[in-house]
Amino acid sequence: MVDALREELADLTASVRAFLEWHAMTGADGLPGDPSALHEALGASPSAGGPPAARRAERGFAGLDAPAAPRGGGGAAFAPPAQRGAAGASPAHPEQGASAPHPEPRAAEARAPAQPPRAPEPSPRPAVSAAAAPRAEPAARAIAAAQPDTPEERAARLSLIAEEVRTCQKCPLHEGRTHTVFSRGDPLSEIVFVGEGPGAEEDQQGEPFVGAAGQLLDKMIAAMGYHRDGVYICNIVKCRPPKNRKPEPAEMAACSPYLASQLALIKPKVIVALGATAVQGLIGTTEGITKLRGTWKLYKGSIPIMPTFHPAYLLRQPSAKREVWSDLKEVMRHLGKSAPDRG
Ligand code: URA
Repeated sequence: MVDALREELADLTASVRAFLEWHAMTGADGLPGDPSALHEALGASPSAGGPPAARRAERGFAGLDAPAAPRGGGGAAFAPPAQRGAAGASPAHPEQGASAPHPEPRAAEARAPAQPPRAPEPSPRPAVSAAAAPRAEPAARAIAAAQPDTPEERAARLSLIAEEVRTCQKCPLHEGRTHTVFSRGDPLSEIVFVGEGPGAEEDQQGEPFVGAAGQLLDKMIAAMGYHRDGVYICNIVKCRPPKNRKPEPAEMAACSPYLASQLALIKPKVIVALGATAVQGLIGTTEGITKLRGTWKLYKGSIPIMPTFHPAYLLRQPSAKREVWSDLKEVMRHLGKSAPDRG
């Protein structure tokens, strides 16, 4: 009798812990409005530090020698998820879709110096199992609700979520898909690239970024000193929107628990958001990518996001590679990596 009570109490405690942890991890209610969280995640106090020492201009993925300066040092650039969806869905607009852009003219803004960032402190591991997560939540979230103990466990949980995605019918995008497109790359990666959604080739192959934009992305990744399979790549939505249109806000919202779970399990040091839709799906802002790129943002109050142009845009507007390379070098600085000499 006493044993049974004890067991019940232990279960209850585990459930409460899992619930609290799930909230802490998913930031279910959005982002903190406190810009100091961003500074903390980047390892710099708002007042600390100055401009980084001038650096040798390295060659980027397109052999560009004079990359654009990074945009202002990231402070209070938060927007609540409630703003989601106000951006419209015209795929022909540069700020909206992977299949869009010619960017609006850059506003002549003062650029604050970039802070030398450090990786955020890892949060303490919860002492609960996935099984103890609240039952009412979507399965993907429950699967991600406690940190995996081993790489194998992480991979296994991601596979479970991918399996759930394979049969997902939460939004109308499932009707037109050939394959769901969950991810590719290394779930142990310190860096995650997030795109908008699968295109035709991705839909055919069931892998993200395998078309022309993907090949350019691979070059960008190689220029950073990574192998394409050494980073983790995924999208805001896991099914192809018809005619490659931008995903609707409701579609993004339906798919967002999957991405949240992926990121909760991987806990990357940095997310690179490719294009406006990726930033919108991650933090809800509807600001244009021309304004957003190069400025650090925060995902769920803890993971630094670097927004940059989508590679599909670069295919149309190769001169924008300069800015992208600048953004990627900022990411490398954050990760303590120097740009490889590509000369
Ligand atoms: N564009 C994206 O945003 N994602 C892909 O997977 C492919 C192209």
